[in-house]
Amino acid sequence: MHFFEYKNRQLHCEGIPIQEIAKKVGTPFYLYSYHTLVRHFTVFDEAFKGIPHLICYSVKANSNLALLRLFVNLGGGVDVVSGGELYRALRGGADPQKIVFSGVGKREDEIGDALRAGILMFNVESSQELQTINEVAGRIGKKAPISIRVNPDIDPKTHPYISTGLKQNKFGIDILRAPMAYRLASQLPNLKIIGIDCHIGSQLVEVEPIIQALRKLKELVERLRKEEMEIQYLDLGGGLGITYEDEEPPHPIEYASTILEEVRGFGCTLILEPGRVIVGNAGVLVSKVLYTKENEEKRFMIVDAGMNDLVRPSYYGSYHQILPVKEEIREEILADVVGPICESSDFLAKGRKIQNLGAGELIAVMSAGAYGFSMSTNYNSRPRVAEVLVRNDQMFVIRQREGYEDLIRGEVIPEFLIKK
Ligand code: LLP
Repeated sequence: MHFFEYKNRQLHCEGIPIQEIAKKVGTPFYLYSYHTLVRHFTVFDEAFKGIPHLICYSVKANSNLALLRLFVNLGGGVDVVSGGELYRALRGGADPQKIVFSGVGKREDEIGDALRAGILMFNVESSQELQTINEVAGRIGKKAPISIRVNPDIDPKTHPYISTGLKQNKFGIDILRAPMAYRLASQLPNLKIIGIDCHIGSQLVEVEPIIQALRKLKELVERLRKEEMEIQYLDLGGGLGITYEDEEPPHPIEYASTILEEVRGFGCTLILEPGRVIVGNAGVLVSKVLYTKENEEKRFMIVDAGMNDLVRPSYYGSYHQILPVKEEIREEILADVVGPICESSDFLAKGRKIQNLGAGELIAVMSAGAYGFSMSTNYNSRPRVAEVLVRNDQMFVIRQREGYEDLIRGEVIPEFLIKK
């Protein structure tokens, strides 16, 4: 069952033709299917039902409040990496006791906010951070629940920008030094050790590296247990990949069953922090062709969404399938699909075999639900686009398109520059 499908030659999101939504909200906009989101979350969650577990949806993938609320309603927790994400999570109704706080550079004020909110745990990434959390907790008069993010030095076999579990990466504490960090934590009076954590990378298409990391973590937990440190939570991070083009990542059920074999009976509650696998294929970016042009070498399709709206192709060279919203018999051409931004790296697709669409026609950039809107910017002073959620034949604008006023909010011209 797919929730983005052609019916009567019109690409639909659930029960609504995308064309109709575009008429109402204008272009570009992000569009999410409610039932796809629910299905992805539920399948993932149920895949782990054999053991005590908590799914902490990774807010950075898509942080819209409506989506957060949807996952909270399904019993989900959240993984946050900043004070801003914590704020969103709480505004989205997340249970503080289901919030984990990750990230390599947590500030004192962010730590304080999280402590006051009463989160489940901090995933700590350095010995200095342990000290800082201890100090802030002392000041507030609370004990901070912590786990240590271990860097297991494992190659996750993904894009170097999103690989995080190798020694050369800034993330976590080297697994060889982790016991020392745990000992330090056990001596700090305002910390309570409750877990262990790792996250080796994103868009993983093989389970093997995750299992290798998990085995290393288990060894460490056993060692810590011998030193009377109790590890209740084992957080494996996120990272499960999706199909953008022809990748064949493991199905969540396969991914889960391999992990379950390793952790069943180990005596820990498992935490997972999926982002992309939940929202990636539940969202598309809808854009309009503005112009087409060609020279001796190339053809260009210039659309109204740019790298400020969806940066993944420019930044990682990522592939996103592009479909015409209206199905017709058209000539196939080879073209670059580019945005209006003044950078040569502003493209959604390069040298793509695509139907020859003309000005005014709509395209859907597929698999854009994760790291799409959440990485968008105002570059070239372009207001950020609207976000729409569809459930059956109802549509909900879950984020209004920004206006020009939003672009200058907070900016001030100092008095001395204003000529009298
Ligand atoms: N947990 C931690 C600690 C993370 O750093 C991440 C992602 C996740 C969970 C969620 O990973 P996921 O399940 O979504 O793979 N902007 C890039 C992806 C960056 C991922 C950063 N960390 C992209 O567009 O591909």
